Amino acid sequence: MSADVPVPTAKSLEKIAALCKPRWDRHYTRSKLDTDPVYHSVMRELNGNTLPLLDIGCGLGLLSHYLRACGHLVPVTGFDYDERKIDAARSMAALAGHDHLSFTAGDARTDMPEFQGHVIMLDILQFFTEPEQDALITSAAKRVAPGAKLIIRSALRDDSWRFRITVLGDYLARACLWMKAGPTRYPDAAQFQRVLSAAGLSVRIEPMWGGTPFNNFLIVGKRES
Ligand SMILES: C[S@@+](CC[C@H](N)C(=O)[O-])C[C@H]1O[C@@H](n2cnc3c(N)ncnc32)[C@H](O)[C@@H]1O
Repeated sequence: MSADVPVPTAKSLEKIAALCKPRWDRHYTRSKLDTDPVYHSVMRELNGNTLPLLDIGCGLGLLSHYLRACGHLVPVTGFDYDERKIDAARSMAALAGHDHLSFTAGDARTDMPEFQGHVIMLDILQFFTEPEQDALITSAAKRVAPGAKLIIRSALRDDSWRFRITVLGDYLARACLWMKAGPTRYPDAAQFQRVLSAAGLSVRIEPMWGGTPFNNFLIVGKRES
């Protein structure tokens, strides 16, 4: 944990899981919030900056609840093409009684909402072809306001054992129907450098393994103010 970055209490994480109606969503949420280091990393990147967020591929909207549990109360727009997850995200937000959380169903390839602020994409790029990934990263970067960040978590394609486990995990998520699609292609670090630099953002890439076996990295593009 990074010093000075707010951390939610265990009780507040339990409360987020309790917002889920299906039992599977509740167990998934509890285990994800307990074990996945990405939410803390995003909080660290946003700390002290109150611009609104667009969360592309938001799933159940867990990031928005985590940030609120940290006291980071900025408006969040969640966007995902899985209507079941968007319905669940709306129901969780309504039960929590949070203001300024909105969730919209749509395909990131064709229906990206108008937006300016921070943009988040966690674990979504593997579902796209290389040209689609380039277009999506570019489209996300256009929505990054001056002084804001594009924060991406993605597995990177390489020849590590971590990468092979990541691919297996994504196929399992598809096999148990948690994901509507299996993985299509994983980006590499050079692709992020190329596309984000062309979009006018400075780029930082760091491993984000935490206690997991996955080949995940945090990619942060920043637009100078
Ligand atoms: C691995 S989940 C990550 C969920 C969320 N970002 C999180 O970290 O909790 C990937 C999400 O991307 C969404 N997704 C995949 N392809 C999409 C597309 N073309 N447009 C919008 N969302 C998409 C899936 O429905 C899924 O909710």
